[in-house]
Amino acid sequence: QELSAAELERTFIAIKPDGVQRGLISDIIARFEKKGYKLVAIKLVHPTKDFAEKHYDDLKGRPFFNGLTDFLSSGPVVAMVWEGQGVIKYGRKFIGATAPLASEPGTIRGDFAISVGRNIIHGSDGPETAKDEIALWFKPEEILTYKKETDKWLY
Ligand code: TYD
Repeated sequence: QELSAAELERTFIAIKPDGVQRGLISDIIARFEKKGYKLVAIKLVHPTKDFAEKHYDDLKGRPFFNGLTDFLSSGPVVAMVWEGQGVIKYGRKFIGATAPLASEPGTIRGDFAISVGRNIIHGSDGPETAKDEIALWFKPEEILTYKKETDKWLY
């Protein structure tokens, strides 16, 4: 069954520098992949401080903003766009609560992290944010549209 454009939503997911350094790239990608979501863009980026500030623009003025943007720009980040029905909301479920000690076991932060300032992964929190973040991190031509054989077993 073909899904409408509205159903086939996209979200921005980033494995932060701690996740990359701790060897969690493959585990995180596997969770999204096995669920049935489709990877439509991926790259390794070392963000500048300025870029990190743009990404977290809505948190400007918060006491942790400087530390947070220092951290995001401290090393390579895996930037991705994942596509599929409900991927924005479900991506957030996969990720778990912002504070890892409040995240359920089974979530990425619940399974792998302890402190809020080293919480492994970022995921867009809604359709508007997803759109803005995808546009900030990716050029349109870096995002691919393609069919997978498994699509018909998922939808
Ligand atoms: P936020 O967008 O509120 O959380 P989430 O990443 O779950 O969408 O905050 C962005 C990041 O800022 C968060 O992942 C970790 C950091 N942060 C702190 O370091 N201290 C805090 O008290 C909060 C709320 C966030």
